Amino acid sequence: MKVLIIGGAGYIGSHVAREFLDRGHSVAVFDNLSSGLRDNLFPEASFIHGDILDPVSLARAMAGGFDALVHLAAFKAAGESMLKPEKYSVNNITGTLNILNAAAEAGVKRVIFSSSAATYGEPKYLPIDEDHPTEPENYYGFTKLEIERFLAWYDKLKGMRFAALRYFNAAGYDVKGRLSGLERNPANLLPVVMETAIGMRPKVQIFGNDYDTKDGTGVRDYVHVSDLAVGHVAALDYIAKNDKSLTVNLGSESGISVLELVEAARRITGRPVPADIVGRRPGDPAKLYASSKRARELLGWTAEHSDVDTLVKTSWDAYLKNAKGR
Ligand code: WQD
Repeated sequence: MKVLIIGGAGYIGSHVAREFLDRGHSVAVFDNLSSGLRDNLFPEASFIHGDILDPVSLARAMAGGFDALVHLAAFKAAGESMLKPEKYSVNNITGTLNILNAAAEAGVKRVIFSSSAATYGEPKYLPIDEDHPTEPENYYGFTKLEIERFLAWYDKLKGMRFAALRYFNAAGYDVKGRLSGLERNPANLLPVVMETAIGMRPKVQIFGNDYDTKDGTGVRDYVHVSDLAVGHVAALDYIAKNDKSLTVNLGSESGISVLELVEAARRITGRPVPADIVGRRPGDPAKLYASSKRARELLGWTAEHSDVDTLVKTSWDAYLKNAKGR
C-alpha cells in the first residue's frame, strides 16, 4: 500500500517508516523537522517537508493519493504539557484535526494513530488492559484521548477506519543499527541514562525510591521501538482486512524499575553511570505495565525485542555511533 507517515523523521516514526519499507509498502514521510532528523530519512521513502499546522501543505501531500496514513507528529512531554497546555492544544489537537480534514478531503480511509498509555492515568489495576478507565493525569494524555474520540467520529461519519495504538514506554534502537538519531534534550529515562553513560550528562537523577515497588523506584513497561513499528504494520493489515477500527495497547507486559535499568546500563556499557536519589516527580505513578492480550489476539503481535538487555544494548550502540561521529 501507499502509506504517508506523518512525523516519520522522528524517533518512533523513522522506525515505523523502516518497517513499512521492509514489508514492501511505498512510503512517503511528512515532517516539519522540528524534532525529527534528516538523518532518520531513508532514500527509498519520499520526503515532504511540511507542517501539520499548515492545511495547504497537508492537502498538497495527500493529493498524492494514499491508502493509509500513520500519524506520530505530536509533542509528548507530559510535564511540559502541564505548564504549556496551549502548545499541546495547537500542535496535538488542531494539528490532528488538520490531518483528519485533509484525509477526508483526499479520500484517505485508514489512519494509524500514535496514542499513549498516558490516556489511562493512575492505574486502578494492573496489568492495564484497554477496558481500564481513561482518566489522564496530564494534558498530554488528555490530548491523546481527545484525538481518539475525534477518530471515532470520523470513523462513524466519514468511514475512516483507525487503529489507536496506546504505546507504553518506547525505548531502544533498530536492532540492525540502521537508525541512530539521538533525541535532543531527552527527559525519558533510558536516553538520560545513556547520556550519563557516554558523558553528555554528569548523573542520573532518580525521581524517588520510596514507591511501593520491588526496590522503591518507579516501574514501567518498556517496549522496544522496533516492536512498536511491527505493531503499526500489523494494525494497518488488520483494519484493511476487517474494515474495522481498533484501540490496542502495545507494551511488553513486564515492569522494569529505574534502578534495574540503571544497573543494566552499568553492566552493559561498563560505565559507572552515577545516579542520585532525589524527590519524586509530580504525577508519576509507582507502577505501570500493560496487558497486550488484545494485540496478541487481534494482531498476532508480541514484543520480541523488549527485554532490558536489548533495550539498553541497542540504545548504547546508537550513542556510541554518535560519539564516534563527533
Ligand atoms: C520513566 C521512569 C520516572 C527520568 C513518559 C510520558 C508518557 C510516555 C512515555 C509518550 C519513571 C523515572 C525518568 C529521569 C527518573 N510518553 N525517571 N529520572 O514518565 O513513564 O512516561 O514517557 O507517550 O506519556 O509520561 O517515562 O522515561 O519520563 O520515566 O527517575 O531522569 O523513570 O520517575 O519512574 P514516563 P519517563
